[in-house]
Amino acid sequence: MTGLDEHAARLDAEDMLAPMRDRFHVPDDMIYLDGNSLGLMPKSVAARLGSVIGAEWSEGLIRSWSDAGWFDLPMRVGDRIAPLVGAGAGEVAVGDSTSVNLFKCLAAALNANVGRSVILAEGSNFPTDSYIAQGLARLVPGVELKFFAAEEDPLAAIDSEVAVLLLSHVDYRSARVRDMAAITAGAHARGALVLWDLSHTTGAVACDLKAANVDFAVGCTYKYLNGGPGAPAFAWAHPRHLADLSQPLSGWMGHAAPFEFVRDYVPAERARRFVCGTPQILSLSALDAALSVWEDLPLEVLWSKSRRMTSFFVDAVEELAAGRGLMLASPRDPAERGSHVSFDLEEGGFELMQALAARKVIGDFRAPCTVRFGFAPLYLRFAEVLAAARHIAEILETRSWDDDRFRVRGAVT
Ligand SMILES: Cc1ncc(COP(=O)(O)O)c(C=O)c1O
Repeated sequence: MTGLDEHAARLDAEDMLAPMRDRFHVPDDMIYLDGNSLGLMPKSVAARLGSVIGAEWSEGLIRSWSDAGWFDLPMRVGDRIAPLVGAGAGEVAVGDSTSVNLFKCLAAALNANVGRSVILAEGSNFPTDSYIAQGLARLVPGVELKFFAAEEDPLAAIDSEVAVLLLSHVDYRSARVRDMAAITAGAHARGALVLWDLSHTTGAVACDLKAANVDFAVGCTYKYLNGGPGAPAFAWAHPRHLADLSQPLSGWMGHAAPFEFVRDYVPAERARRFVCGTPQILSLSALDAALSVWEDLPLEVLWSKSRRMTSFFVDAVEELAAGRGLMLASPRDPAERGSHVSFDLEEGGFELMQALAARKVIGDFRAPCTVRFGFAPLYLRFAEVLAAARHIAEILETRSWDDDRFRVRGAVT
């Protein structure tokens, strides 16, 4: 046994969350380091979808909107997410995609910050954040979009025109964590509101929206929340904004009285007004069941397991694959790092990930040269983290990645 094996065994023995793994379907012999893209399937989902398709849909049909509580599902599921991000009951609405919720919240922030018309966004953010801001700026006369660069201080770029600052809490590429409270306070001092994208935060990294006095937040639920492919996203607004919150996708399901069928839109109470059209009941039900895993979970233990896992992975890779060209592209300090780890590799990054996948070690590749590994603290073991580091080292040492079969690119990398 090497020192790394002993270390992994000790960390696994101390892991209070180890029993949680049984609540997930783990494919045979797979080391799944992509829970930051699409989480494993919780076993509770299959049974729940069975009863939704059976009793609720097949038998209950239209009555299930009331009898099975479908109508309230966007808010009930939101209430399950709320404690994970430091939000309160009735403040989180679930539905649509992160992209659509970005649109709603950006527009709501512009509406709330009267007299200012600039969206200030991070140029290196996940592309959909930039694309949605571009679409909104094209749509609304007078609204302008400005970008700041990754190495720039966003606060320094806030002038008297900036209405809203759009940022990711955890960077999708590097996993760098931004100081939510300090940036939000700095933006407020300069008269701007802040919208945080929590896609790489929720379910793996501590977040307290209320304590940080944030204005708006969105996030996806198919990563660390394990809601399934295309699971609906969430939108949150601080209660101080909710009473007057005006978002432009004012569909009937966010109306105060949708079944009155009146002509004019009157927003529903609280975050329900983020809901637009008919909620996606099948995927909301899957997410609802997936979130049952989080009941009574000691969150501090979870956040700290995430930091220990990423640190252990960095140490193991740097020891086992030293001199093989991997350059750490994530912060070294675990306090500044989310729950994934990225390395840049000048040559063969894409092929490395394919060679790993052939050994059933799953991570992902972000062009042009980043290999990325996600560590979902709910279900991963330290022994798997070490095994993955060994596979990486071996593939690089033998150059077995340098093979035409690993160069074939699918639509998704
Ligand atoms: C930061 C961030 N925002 C948004 C998204 C995706 O948005 P959507 O759920 O609309 O596909 C991702 C996807 O990985 C992301 O990393």
